[in-house]
Amino acid sequence: MNEQPSGHRAARRRDRRVYLRSHPLLFALLAATRRRAVVRLGRTVLVHGAEAYREALTRIPLDRTAPGTTGGAAAELTDGGLLFDQDGAEHRAARRELSGELGAAAVDRLRPHWQAVLATRIPALAGGTLELVELSRELAGATAAALTGAAACPHALAGAATEAAAAAARDHLPGPRPRDAARTAAARAAELAALLPDPRDAMVAVAAVNTTVAALPRAAAWCSDAGLWPSVDADRAPALAAELLRLTAPSPLLPRVAAADAVLAGRPVRAGDRLILVARHAAGAHRPAPSPGPAAAQAVFGAGPHACPGAGLARALLADLLLALAPYRPVVVRARVDRRAALPGWAELTVRATRLPG
Ligand code: HEM
Repeated sequence: MNEQPSGHRAARRRDRRVYLRSHPLLFALLAATRRRAVVRLGRTVLVHGAEAYREALTRIPLDRTAPGTTGGAAAELTDGGLLFDQDGAEHRAARRELSGELGAAAVDRLRPHWQAVLATRIPALAGGTLELVELSRELAGATAAALTGAAACPHALAGAATEAAAAAARDHLPGPRPRDAARTAAARAAELAALLPDPRDAMVAVAAVNTTVAALPRAAAWCSDAGLWPSVDADRAPALAAELLRLTAPSPLLPRVAAADAVLAGRPVRAGDRLILVARHAAGAHRPAPSPGPAAAQAVFGAGPHACPGAGLARALLADLLLALAPYRPVVVRARVDRRAALPGWAELTVRATRLPG
């Protein structure tokens, strides 16, 4: 991808708002400490460096069900029947199955479902504007429904997955939590599970929908603000999609807990320490420099035996969205940050066409 520094600066400026509006203090803390690979604050260890991040995910034994981690939230969300950060033989079997379901053949099987949504919704741009968060919910919901065999309407499924994740995040955030947070989180999880033929798929639905709904509008806004539409064609869209996912790092922090004493970037880590793995920094997403390569692009999807099995699917869906939008060269006319969502993102991102496909 050609670097276009001034365009990327504008894109980055807008994109930073999703962090600054939703978690200003956390964002400031992470920005202030990011020059060090590993930073300890009491029993919390911030991991910024690319190598330390990879090591933490591949070499340090992690407590996969500790409260406040993604795995812990998943265990509650699925009543123990999770597939997220699960350990042992059961994880390996479920994971093998899911990786098969989400591999290249799965992309071919699922693509018609999201293409149908694009074919219905994108032409609205010819007559005016298009709201990309709503569109992303429908794309994510239709894809998750096809993946899990759910008969639910895409909006209902996406809405239930978003609510379940937001309630779980509120229940797990440090500091005072709303009264009844745990009960609300359990109720939202049950509502989602009720929409699925196999309730154990709740975690997959949450992982797929929330990342997609956060990622697609941010990536499309970046593409608009950086003036990248003319470079979007079938050959280049896949690489651009991967690069935009690196630059936006939709899942910017991975909360984990060390299960044993270890050494990370020369620093001791003790069993029970809380690790905040900063995917955004490990991927170099905060730096204006051109893409540091495929390892950085992979970092936003984690590393090792638990790395995201949906990465190929997410890249393919984004590439298809970019290809569908590109002929209209859309520009952002309205953007509002979502301060409630589990992941940083837009509550509304409206674009307007600047030309019609010829
Ligand atoms: C832009 C979109 C996405 C991003 C940024 C993303 C990111 C991630 C990350 C960072 C992890 C943790 C990896 C680790 O601990 O090493 C993860 C795990 C996971 N993701 Fe994704 N993901 C995305 C889309 C998807 C999609 C579309 C699906 C399903 C269709 C999915 C399913 C999963 C599952 C099941 C896991 C748990 C894997 C395990 O613990 O073995 N993700 N994802």
